[in-house]
Amino acid sequence: MKLVLCEDYEEMSLKAAEETVNLTKANPHCVLGLATGSTPMGMYKILTRMYREGRADFSRVKTFNLDEYYPISQDNPQSYHSFMDKNLFSQINIKKENIHILDGMCKNAEEECKNFEQLIEKTGGIDLQILGIGTNGHIGFNEPGEYLIPQTHLTYLSQSTLNANSRFFKEGEEMPKQALTMGIGTILKAKKILLLAGGMSKRDIIKQLLGGEITTHIPASMLKVHKDVVLMCDRAAYPD
Ligand code: F6R
Repeated sequence: MKLVLCEDYEEMSLKAAEETVNLTKANPHCVLGLATGSTPMGMYKILTRMYREGRADFSRVKTFNLDEYYPISQDNPQSYHSFMDKNLFSQINIKKENIHILDGMCKNAEEECKNFEQLIEKTGGIDLQILGIGTNGHIGFNEPGEYLIPQTHLTYLSQSTLNANSRFFKEGEEMPKQALTMGIGTILKAKKILLLAGGMSKRDIIKQLLGGEITTHIPASMLKVHKDVVLMCDRAAYPD
């Protein structure tokens, strides 16, 4: 795992955006794996700016998102469909048919997950996967536990994730307890992975990740078996 240490969140977001845009220039048909949450928001803002300034083109890019709550409708403001639309897709020239996000209202989750996996394969696989990390070490919604599931699947959110993500839901609004997520194997199949971590709240898990062993109790530690992973973090998240 290669480390890129950035001064602050702004620099981390800029470097991540530049890495993404460089890939789209080298390969305009590239396939991006995308994440939601607070971490990539700065990066998405910069991608939007670069597009507006004519420095980025997403017209042939395809995307697959890591996860979606379950059950949740696409137009629910808390859905990851809404998040991606608001923070990136509606701001750039990506084609609707090139965007793939798991359907939080699907009737048959198993089939939805299987089709998603097949579609990733059919497009040639993910060239660059953007990841954030949960304070408990989750990536996507692969929560710490005795075992991890390789393929895209329906899962229960851990109490720590429910606590961490409840900040996005208004009081009285029910937060889904389940999610559809790419599996660890799906993530590891990406050709390159960029793991982003910003802020003090990530320092402890980054310390465990860098120092520790590979264990299902820290799902992000599985990334250590991949040959092209970059951990990009700011000083606040870096344990020195
Ligand atoms: C989001 C996702 C999650 C987040 C993680 C960190 O699509 O898959 O694994 O990346 O929970 O969230 P933030 O960035 O809000 O700290």
